[in-house]
Amino acid sequence: MLRTHTCGDLRADHAGETVTLCGWVLRRRDHGGLIFVDLRDRYGFTQIVFDPKHGKIFKTAETIRPEWVLKVTGTVRKRIAGAERSDNPTGMIEVEVTAVDVLNEAKTPPFEIDHPQQHGSAVRGNKEDSAGPAAEVNEELRLQYRYLDLRRERMQRNIILRSKIFQIIRNYFTEQGCIEVDTPCLIKGTPEGAREYIVPSRLYPGQFFVLPQSPQQLKQLCMVAGLDRYFQIARCFRDEDQRGDRQPEFVQLDLEMSFCTQEDVQKTVEGSVVRVLAECSGKPLKGDGVQRYTWQDVMDRYGSDKPDLRYDLPIVDISALCDGCGFEVFEKALKNKGTVRALRVPGGAALTRSEIDTWTELAKELKAKGLAYILFTAEGPKSPLVKFFKEGFLDKLIAATGAQTGDALFFGADGFKTVCSSLGRIRSEAAKRFNLIDTSVHSLFWVTNFPMFEEMEDGTLTFSHHPFTSPNVEEWKRRKENPHGVHSVCYDLVLDGYELGSGSIRIHDATLQQEVFEMLGISRADQQKRFGHMLEAFTYGAPPHGGFAYGIDRLVMIVAGEPNIREVIAFPKDQKAKDLLLGAPGEVPERQLRELGIRIVKD
Ligand code: AMO
Ligand code: AMP
Repeated sequence: MLRTHTCGDLRADHAGETVTLCGWVLRRRDHGGLIFVDLRDRYGFTQIVFDPKHGKIFKTAETIRPEWVLKVTGTVRKRIAGAERSDNPTGMIEVEVTAVDVLNEAKTPPFEIDHPQQHGSAVRGNKEDSAGPAAEVNEELRLQYRYLDLRRERMQRNIILRSKIFQIIRNYFTEQGCIEVDTPCLIKGTPEGAREYIVPSRLYPGQFFVLPQSPQQLKQLCMVAGLDRYFQIARCFRDEDQRGDRQPEFVQLDLEMSFCTQEDVQKTVEGSVVRVLAECSGKPLKGDGVQRYTWQDVMDRYGSDKPDLRYDLPIVDISALCDGCGFEVFEKALKNKGTVRALRVPGGAALTRSEIDTWTELAKELKAKGLAYILFTAEGPKSPLVKFFKEGFLDKLIAATGAQTGDALFFGADGFKTVCSSLGRIRSEAAKRFNLIDTSVHSLFWVTNFPMFEEMEDGTLTFSHHPFTSPNVEEWKRRKENPHGVHSVCYDLVLDGYELGSGSIRIHDATLQQEVFEMLGISRADQQKRFGHMLEAFTYGAPPHGGFAYGIDRLVMIVAGEPNIREVIAFPKDQKAKDLLLGAPGEVPERQLRELGIRIVKD
């Protein structure tokens, strides 16, 4: 190695030693004849001192600039009293330089490569305190110069955390007897509900590979192959709208087990997440272990299948009170076989008109027709609705919801799905607005018993998980009369209000698989074309099996306390699914397109 120590190694007991350090110039300060440089690498930074008595070396020191790469040799000495920095592990010493080698110069970076320790904010672990001063740098610029952005302490911390989490996961699943099988990326589509990325084939012009949305089919085939227990840190590709917790390519922890029950899969999966949290996050789990709720429970109480339960804020079904209540919106919803529900927001009477307007728009984005409300101010209830209420209804509402002076009530009156999603959204807005989230804990729980199918806007059925998920067999027998009464043996894991992962017990019987495809409106011919290999594999002794996958990027993001997934991925795509560093996607030469038999039609 060109160095004897890293920039994070030296302590007071190294005083007197001759050392060689390599690193980047974090900053240079001229002080009464002496020049001080903080030299930085992945491990920390060390103060090095240039003294004019070393003439030529001092001349070099006068020219160096931030981000130059230096190799320095010198003597470690204790800092003079009063100059120590207890917030830096190397802050007790400095190195008096006796030789300097400029290994490389650097242009002035497009943004400052910050070091949070210098700002005394080495705290970590939640959304509020992680965005240090450097967070203000424009993200486009950060992504364009990602190699500089990654030099920053915050980013290095995230990437190192990610590496540690990968190691924990690998070790854990290996201990569980799982075999790591790496499945290919050039495959045929596996439906997970998103659009697919496709890759043209040169050898077969007009034909395409599809990048996996997940290794779902291949991991099931590993079970047919008798591998019994499989895991993989699998790269997945989904061409879907970007959000803070989504990337076009991401990594999943992917698990599949044979001869297992839902509980077996859950226990195995949760053990890995609990271990990651215990080893990488300072925060305990809220409550007593990993809870289990049904889909119906969480939808009814929190309006979401992935509620953040670091706060409660329950939604109350007031349908039974609303018949004949006098307010047409509520009565009409009931007449249309819908539901009326209320959310009490403690302190909500303080909301301004414009905040309520903003929340109303949010509810409308989720198809609600409006967002009825009552503010319980010290002067009495303020609301556009109360004047319509029949006598006694307001009192009933107050009794049912526990509303007190200072609170607000928000209402949804519509079909079940619309009311849940809109009030669920308001619930999370309210928690943010009134600081109700306990960020000192993690909330981790299972949601089970999902409906097997969802209805699309055109009335046709689609799968809620994926088409390989086993239905509840008893309910399946009544599927023709009551498709919405069929639940699947599937389970989601929710961490701090994010869907961390999903899994299910799979279908291992070719006939049942065909019935599910049929129910989804996939013709026999299409079944053969798209999934013939699965149907055939099931006829060669497929064992009962089940599995799970969780998003590792999401897990790292939550543990790091970062507000979006891009902060924990070394080279992410931007919000418009572009790689700003490499400039991808980009055009390819005409010759390459011809080889592939592709002509670009521009409109
Ligand atoms: P699912 O589609 O729910 O299940 O995906 C599992 C988990 O992967 C993560 N994830 C993503 N992370 C970042 N960016 C994305 N675009 C993205 N999409 C999904 C989420 C999600 O919960 N084959 C099934 C699993 C199974 O049944 O075993 C599957 O992929 O954290
Ligand atoms: P309107 O009768 O349309 O003037 O609405 C009166 C109040 O009820 C307004 O605050 C609307 O935002 C709200 N509102 C209207 N329709 C609904 C609905 N389906 N669910 C909840 N609130 C609604």
